[in-house]
Amino acid sequence: MKKAYEKPVINPIRIGLSNKLGGKAYFSSRVRTEIDGVSIKELVEKFGSPLFVFSERKLRQQFRRLKQAFETRYPNVEFTWSYKTNYLKAICAILHQEGETAEVVSEFEYEKARRLGIPGHQIIFNGPYKPKEALRIAILEGAKINADTFEELADIEEIAKELGQKVKIGIRINMDTGIQPRWDRFGFNLESGQAEDAVKRIASSEWLELNGLHCHIGTFILEPEAYENEVKKMVNFAYHIEDNYGFKIEYLDIGGGLPSKNRLKGVYLPAEIAVPDVEEYAERITTALLENLRPGDFPKLIIEAGRAIVDEAGYLITTVYATKRLPNGFRGYILDAGVNLLFTAFWYNFKVEVDRHLHGAPEPSILYGPLCMNIDVINDVEYLPPLPRGTKLIISPVGAYNVTQWMQFIRYRPNVVLIGMNGEVDLIREAENIDDIESKERLPERLKLT
Ligand SMILES: Cc1ncc(COP(=O)(O)O)c(C=O)c1O
Repeated sequence: MKKAYEKPVINPIRIGLSNKLGGKAYFSSRVRTEIDGVSIKELVEKFGSPLFVFSERKLRQQFRRLKQAFETRYPNVEFTWSYKTNYLKAICAILHQEGETAEVVSEFEYEKARRLGIPGHQIIFNGPYKPKEALRIAILEGAKINADTFEELADIEEIAKELGQKVKIGIRINMDTGIQPRWDRFGFNLESGQAEDAVKRIASSEWLELNGLHCHIGTFILEPEAYENEVKKMVNFAYHIEDNYGFKIEYLDIGGGLPSKNRLKGVYLPAEIAVPDVEEYAERITTALLENLRPGDFPKLIIEAGRAIVDEAGYLITTVYATKRLPNGFRGYILDAGVNLLFTAFWYNFKVEVDRHLHGAPEPSILYGPLCMNIDVINDVEYLPPLPRGTKLIISPVGAYNVTQWMQFIRYRPNVVLIGMNGEVDLIREAENIDDIESKERLPERLKLT
């Protein structure tokens, strides 16, 4: 067969040399033919491409490592699964089996947790917007509510009055922990005195009782010291409340935010070097607690880690559909998955592995999705040898936030499978079809074409 003519281009080869940290980027080390012993080829033959694949083994390992890191250092810890990070039933069920409670930020997530069999008293209800009806159900079912605004305090007070029952609540606070950007839109600000005003508001009500503090300082926090600062401020504030207002602070919920081994855009170092291990966070957090708590006082430490648990358990298999030379000399690849499925591509440069050994000099390549939109780029510049049509790319870590933030834009969302502890493969979310998408639409009679 005659090959199509392509204008020759000359590119300097920048791959294969050590970078200044001794890291090497030989592409041959990035071949992956299986996930947990199940072949990529078989997975795609059976479930199609693109395909999200989750590893139950990795998920449990990640959770157990986190649990061990904290439980060996502090006697009273609760882990609560951040639903927004990944609320596929199978993923939540595994983490609940491991002992996590549920952390939700909407009535939708609340309902999901309840349907899965989680009782209200094992649900933590956060979030800046909690409709009154959702609050009423959460109160009746005994959920832990962390209030975010003065309006919410007033709503809870009203419900408590209607029910004739005093309600225990926590408040969400925000503070300067030394990192940017500050997540100061959520809860009550500590330094400005707003958080104390919220305490006063609660103290002035016969229907409310304060028993917990919550603070989520941000996400993908690469600086363990920020947590140390957070914990110190939370403990000091808790004792200030106890001494001045007579409430007992039973729990300190330090939110989530621990990073996964992913690579933020603009970060030069590989994740293995740039991202501290979970044990370092645990050490800083628990040391700060033990140094600042009063003797014999061990309030419950609540941890809402999301991405640190699930991100590395998720992969996306995608296939090279076509390739072209771009005007700047780069090689462009069109894949069958784009930012419709990988929303986190806007922030992270994922690891890209291929299903076969490749030949040819690596060249700067851009991985595009199928969307017909200029923003649909998965990885900006990767140095890749030429990828034949049909090559499968295995993109990771993608277990956090993608299967919740994905969009049904232009294309259907694909199958999601879980590889179990013994290598069994289960479909945990079926690919969508036209009926799923159109089932909620209504076409007025007068607009019908046939
Ligand atoms: C209140 C709260 N808790 C927990 C999380 C989970 O965060 P991460 O995935 O960074 O651990 C989030 C995420 O934004 C959050 O808003």
